Amino acid sequence: SSIPHPGPPLPPSLQCFIHPSPVRYPGPPHRRGQLKPCYLLNAASLLPVLALGVEEGDRVLDLCSAPGGKALAILQTADPALLCCNEMDPHRRDWLAKTLESFIPQSLSRTVTVSNQDGRIFGQSEAGMYDKVLLDAPCSNDRSWLFSGPGGEQRGAVRLRERARLPTLQTQLLRSALAAVRPGGVVVYSTCTLSRSENQEVVEAVLNTSPGVELQDLEEELALPLQEHFTFTPLGHTPSLGLLVVPQQGQTWGPMFLSRIKRIH
Ligand SMILES: C[S@@+](CC[C@H](N)C(=O)[O-])C[C@H]1O[C@@H](n2cnc3c(N)ncnc32)[C@H](O)[C@@H]1O
Repeated sequence: SSIPHPGPPLPPSLQCFIHPSPVRYPGPPHRRGQLKPCYLLNAASLLPVLALGVEEGDRVLDLCSAPGGKALAILQTADPALLCCNEMDPHRRDWLAKTLESFIPQSLSRTVTVSNQDGRIFGQSEAGMYDKVLLDAPCSNDRSWLFSGPGGEQRGAVRLRERARLPTLQTQLLRSALAAVRPGGVVVYSTCTLSRSENQEVVEAVLNTSPGVELQDLEEELALPLQEHFTFTPLGHTPSLGLLVVPQQGQTWGPMFLSRIKRIH
């Protein structure tokens, strides 16, 4: 069924539909040369896209883009001059390419490019080139454990080792994202974890060590108008380092953390 449109900050061009019960719903299959009618997304994944606030003619970078759900949502909110979808992992890049092929009409194919850089050095190679950068960072994403099949214990040990390295990686990616944006432009940092060390602490570390950047408040712009649809949890820090959506019974969206930083000079 269609979600009753809540009005601003959701642009009317962003069409959302919701399954009446919280089931895992099969997506439409990939068919070469055919566009798909809908993309399945956790509704909280729209929040970083809304926070990015893409406007017509913007140059936009999606620094960690696969499988491409947020890139598609960006294209539903506005007509950017450029959307560069970057993904370092080759398998996930193939997945991203399939997503783009399945959803993006020919008329937009010149607007959207795919690149394969390590996001940690992207900001050096294309310094100041973008108006908006989305950093939807790799994170511990504990929700995905639910769907990872058998052999969970062994994979669990690997995941715990990888998890220890994530805050450093996320910090490097966020610094790079801030280097890629022009003065006056914004970076949205998002994760789908509840982990404080991957969320607030990454944002705080970067703010404390990056001159010429400013944290932006998302409370009035996003949390207040959308509080009926998402459960936002206070982060106990003033000003708030971001918004955190926590899944609740009957409101299963999230987890999703998002924070917006503006580059002043
Ligand atoms: C949370 S996922 C992105 C989801 C995507 N934004 C979407 O909405 O579909 C994070 C992605 O970052 C990629 N990644 C991890 N390390 C990276 C790096 N150093 N540079 C670029 N991408 C990286 C991962 O392969 C993964 O595809």
